[in-house]
Amino acid sequence: MLNREIVELLNEQINKELFSAYLYLGMADYYADQNLDGFENWFYVQAQEERDHAMLFRRYLQNNDEKVTLLAIEAPSNSYDVYEAPLAASLKHEQFVTASINNIYAAAYRDKDFRTMEFLNWFIKEQGEEEKNATDLIRKFELFGSDAKGLYMLNQELLGRVYAPPTLVFN
Ligand SMILES: [Fe+2]
Repeated sequence: MLNREIVELLNEQINKELFSAYLYLGMADYYADQNLDGFENWFYVQAQEERDHAMLFRRYLQNNDEKVTLLAIEAPSNSYDVYEAPLAASLKHEQFVTASINNIYAAAYRDKDFRTMEFLNWFIKEQGEEEKNATDLIRKFELFGSDAKGLYMLNQELLGRVYAPPTLVFN
């Protein structure tokens, strides 16, 4: 049995991950409207990964005989004024998710819930990668995005991102 606070936090995390998927889908839609198909692809893959994260939390609760409670998903904004706006917003969002996962980890640590800590280890590492990816993209845009040729090349590079299922097993 997991403690009530941790169950609640894990349920809320499902919602946060699904919101992340929704947010990134909105960013993909924004870039699709701008005819930047590489940026669209990058955020579409990102949205798929976020959905997987939600499913991992769902499965973890179920594997521990806990009930999953699905909450309403907030509508994200998908109107941005400049190409780099979603990039900055995605880094800010990942920092928010990192803090949320750290908060669950802290609760598990207080409760000596070693199983949940072990489960969360993958996400702790994953958040480090997410923040790095978001920062790298901002840096690349700063370097190359202001010039049409550079933007074209960067868009082509981002077109190459391929979705891969998470390395953490689902059950
Ligand atoms: Fe995530």
